[in-house]
Amino acid sequence: MEQILARTLEQEVGKVSVQEKQLLLSRLLARLAHEIRNPLSSLGIHVQLLEEDIARSAPQIQERSTVRFEIIRGELQRLDNLVKQFLNLAGPSSVSLQPVDVSRVTGHVCKLLHPEAAARNIEIALTTASDLPALAADPVQLTQALVNLVLNAIQAVVRDGHIEVGARLDDTGGWMLISVHDSGPGVPVERQSVIFEPFVTTKDEGSGLGLWIVQQIALAHGGTVGTANAPAGGAVFTLQLPVRGKEPGDG
Ligand SMILES: Nc1ncnc2c1ncn2[C@@H]1O[C@H](COP(=O)(O)OP(=O)(O)O)[C@@H](O)[C@H]1O
Ligand SMILES: [Mg+2]
Repeated sequence: MEQILARTLEQEVGKVSVQEKQLLLSRLLARLAHEIRNPLSSLGIHVQLLEEDIARSAPQIQERSTVRFEIIRGELQRLDNLVKQFLNLAGPSSVSLQPVDVSRVTGHVCKLLHPEAAARNIEIALTTASDLPALAADPVQLTQALVNLVLNAIQAVVRDGHIEVGARLDDTGGWMLISVHDSGPGVPVERQSVIFEPFVTTKDEGSGLGLWIVQQIALAHGGTVGTANAPAGGAVFTLQLPVRGKEPGDG
């Protein structure tokens, strides 16, 4: 779906600025999600009514329908989740901040992607300091941002390598620095700024939306995301987020 969106938009967005592209995309996603949601809930209601009708029919028919209804409900659920995800993409500006244990979130993301990495003989190491203060953040969005960064890292390494995920405080103690360092080829310096723009990808099957989403999430938290290449090689992506959350009026 992301790819269809990217492709249909790409022709149009070639002519407009980055900010306009981002706005266009957010609006399109929100609109699409909204338009899909209404018929979806109507479908859910009618499926339920149909189930009630069939409950009164002959046993053989009931038996056969049970499996079909399970499939239908499963697929409806899948669509509903997809729509929710798109609404999340469109509006990460509405973050719900709460105290977040960063070591737990980073640990959770590593666990989540461990099978994916292990299958390519990539080791994921967690280097988060243990004595960090709670971070005022939206745990769902923070997780989504980290998943995107670690997935990119896995794709950059391809096979046989390692990834380090860690969080620490900056020198002032006011910022949490959460970084993902991989043993891949790194990002060519001249591309380091453009990769955060929507639809910029070097992958055949890429959407080019991952880093854009990460950046939207960072900005919504009053923070930033940046990349650099480590002296010893590989890319480092760092989320810099205010420990106490976004102050009102921070833009
Ligand atoms: N860890 C990384 N190492 C090297 N290049 C990267 C890394 N992460 C992202 N990139 C580059 O940035 C591009 C954009 O990433 P992203 O927005 O996540 O979109 P996608 O993953 O769909 O290509 C990638 O296609 C790749 O060229
Ligand atoms: Mg990506």
